Amino acid sequence: MSRSERKWDHIRYALETGQKRSTAFDDVQFIHQSLPNMNVSDVTFQQKIGELSLSSPIFINAMTGGGGEKTYNLNKQLAIVAKEAGLAMAVGSQMSALKDKSESYTYEVVRKENPSGVLIANLGSEAIPDQAKNAIDMIEANALQVHLNVIQELTMPEGDRDFFGALKRIEAIVKVVNVPVIVKEVGFGMSKETVESLLSIGVSIVDIGGFGGTNFAQIENKRNEKSQAFFNQWGIPTAISISEASYVSKSISIIGSGGVTTSDELAKGIALGASAIGFAGLFLKILVEQGIEALYEEISALHNELTMIMTALGAKSIQELQRAPLMISGQMHHWLTQRGID
Ligand code: FNR
Repeated sequence: MSRSERKWDHIRYALETGQKRSTAFDDVQFIHQSLPNMNVSDVTFQQKIGELSLSSPIFINAMTGGGGEKTYNLNKQLAIVAKEAGLAMAVGSQMSALKDKSESYTYEVVRKENPSGVLIANLGSEAIPDQAKNAIDMIEANALQVHLNVIQELTMPEGDRDFFGALKRIEAIVKVVNVPVIVKEVGFGMSKETVESLLSIGVSIVDIGGFGGTNFAQIENKRNEKSQAFFNQWGIPTAISISEASYVSKSISIIGSGGVTTSDELAKGIALGASAIGFAGLFLKILVEQGIEALYEEISALHNELTMIMTALGAKSIQELQRAPLMISGQMHHWLTQRGID
């Protein structure tokens, strides 16, 4: 099976497998405040994550790897929505286009459609510095995502079996590229130990890509006869992983993602310490099943609802929402207590 065919299998299975699993956001509750002392129009989403200026805490996460006409169309449509809604957008893995230059147009289209937007390049941790530079140049990216997907590779019969040296390769990339490097997971979450290692090599932004949404172990296990079902429940739930990462250091910016589908989860992710929240599966499903206009409306609704939640909490900015008091209960409380995270 070609890389492009495999990627389309992923999209089909991601849509079929469904999104609702345990992100642990149900264990998080806002504490109501009766005197917010602000106006709905006081809310601003504008913020800076390192050198990146964002006008929304919502961003479109990587989904369009593999190349081919379908990748081109999906990238084009997502870039149009990102421009209209003022969102940052990551493309999927560009490795296929680095190996076969005739595929570059399937990614370059995002810059063509959105000349001044925040666009994020994407490669796996097998990439070397020259490939990272070329992926960034291909879409004149404002940042580069390097994804870590050990469990996905292990569940694929044709996947990688050698994970030696990823941290060293990422360090080499961080040293040579001239845009921020975001290291991301793909739905299995990041522990505080992982985030500490990344911080030690100069990474300043992580996307914890937590458990509870798109599940690549389940997707691969459905595709393949020889199932490794023990990986189906593997991973750190998104809400817990954001807490693990924010415990490490204030100097690392956190992007929360993995199974976020509502404004309530979006707001909770920020209150747990994230600066922005990535959406993949939900946006893909709406785009493929209902089209561009429906996706734009969904993003507008998320923005409006987030404004209401922030007003109720008296939080005028994303930074203020990050400080909103929370009550943590259930499995998440248990987890954080045992891990010494408060
Ligand atoms: C992905 N994801 C992904 N991530 C990445 O870094 N590079 C990639 O090429 C892809 N490809 C991809 C394809 C499809 C079809 C999906 C649904 C997802 C992972 C994605 O960015 C995200 O980390 C996970 O999907 C978890 O978020 P959601 O889907 O639960 O919001």
